[in-house]
Amino acid sequence: MPFPGFNSDTLDNSLVNPAAYADESIHDAYTRLRREDPVHWTEPTGFRPFWSITRHADIVAISKANDRFINRERTYISPIEAEEWVKQTTGDSHLFRTLVDLDDPIHMKLRRITHTWFMPQNLKKLEPQIAAIAKAHVDRMAALGGQCDFVNEVALWYPLRVIMMILGLPAADENRMLQMTQEIFGPQDPDVVARSRIITQGLSGATEGTGNPQVDIFALVQQFFQYFGEVLADRRASPRDDLATVIAQGTVDGEPIGLLEAISYYAIAVTAGHDTTSSTASGGLLALIQNPAELAKLKADPSLIPGAVEEMIRWATPVKHFMRTCTEDTVVGGKTIRKGDGVALFYWSGNRDEAVFEEPFRFRVDRPNNPQTAFGNGVHQCLGLHLARMEIRALFAELLPRLDEIELAGEPKLSVANFVSGLKAMPIRYRMR
Ligand code: HEM
Repeated sequence: MPFPGFNSDTLDNSLVNPAAYADESIHDAYTRLRREDPVHWTEPTGFRPFWSITRHADIVAISKANDRFINRERTYISPIEAEEWVKQTTGDSHLFRTLVDLDDPIHMKLRRITHTWFMPQNLKKLEPQIAAIAKAHVDRMAALGGQCDFVNEVALWYPLRVIMMILGLPAADENRMLQMTQEIFGPQDPDVVARSRIITQGLSGATEGTGNPQVDIFALVQQFFQYFGEVLADRRASPRDDLATVIAQGTVDGEPIGLLEAISYYAIAVTAGHDTTSSTASGGLLALIQNPAELAKLKADPSLIPGAVEEMIRWATPVKHFMRTCTEDTVVGGKTIRKGDGVALFYWSGNRDEAVFEEPFRFRVDRPNNPQTAFGNGVHQCLGLHLARMEIRALFAELLPRLDEIELAGEPKLSVANFVSGLKAMPIRYRMR
């Protein structure tokens, strides 16, 4: 047991320790906190303290109380040194002005620009294209001849192709986009950084990396500005039928949205829409391989796919937390959270809460009641949740009927990251049509 004496130092440090997410020992901490101290004052070394919220009900309640718990001050857990660096570099607490960094009324005004676009009614028209992209990626898997690394050869590329198609960006830019989205979330994990350096070797504009994470992140932000600045100018000059144009033509209070807001919008669409969905696809397939009876059930009855996708999202919970800051003293779970205190909503813990989920550590494709909280709640609830579900459904609807046998061909590895994380490698062996 990593926390035999419930030593608060060890526990608090493990809540922010990326390695505890890679070996899943974080679940020991979460389980214990849900039982013994679900609203836990956390003081990790090198971080500003915050409250750790680990029960489903408290996570949902805080997420929905958007006046009392705001996003602007602190969006995710970051070391003091990194927070200071951002402040010195930008004069602000954020590098971007994305939807998750902002509060109403500006947040809602910006969200409204793409809200209708992300609704099922509009997405329906994209269904055939998404099914075709899913098929192309399953074909790629079949062509690999019965053995591959599912993460690096299939799952990373599929949602990337979808988001590039939706934004109206050329397939030729996929490698560059993969590098940018991976490194913005993955700098804690040297394997993820190394992989993207290999992918982009020789590409013009690609950075080698200095080894200094802050300098590298800044270079990455500049790449986002360079790339999407051109997209913005292009769509303002010649509008097309794509999401990049919807954003470029967006207005707030009758004025075109600013450069920083537009670039941030592109950045969040491409980052939030990529790693999360690929981690769910690979985490979902791993759960099926490890639970052959569930795989057999799903293959026998494809009408279970939508429910199975919901369970995959609960299981993988690719976004491990978001933060809020309290605006007035509020009692949660018997503890008084003071004005100005930071609060971390640990979604993976909420999704293993025994008060809500029967046998939460069991993967069940036909789980009868699944109010998973991986997309968050309240005004910031994931804008892309219908798209994400549609993508994962399309992939498994194509893959499962063609798959005769599948097993692990090596050890699956989770990334070393405490914010957005998931599998970084999963060697598999299979027989398929
Ligand atoms: C916000 C999870 C896929 C776009 C969020 C949040 C979470 C999340 C936890 C913050 C919610 C909150 O603070 O209450 C996920 C998961 C996904 C996924 C688990 C896949 C399984 C996508 C996709 C897109 C997307 C495919 C679009 C391309 C966004 C945007 C926001 C967001 C724009 C900010 C919304 C706001 O602050 O108003 N997502 N996401 N996400 N997500 Fe997703």
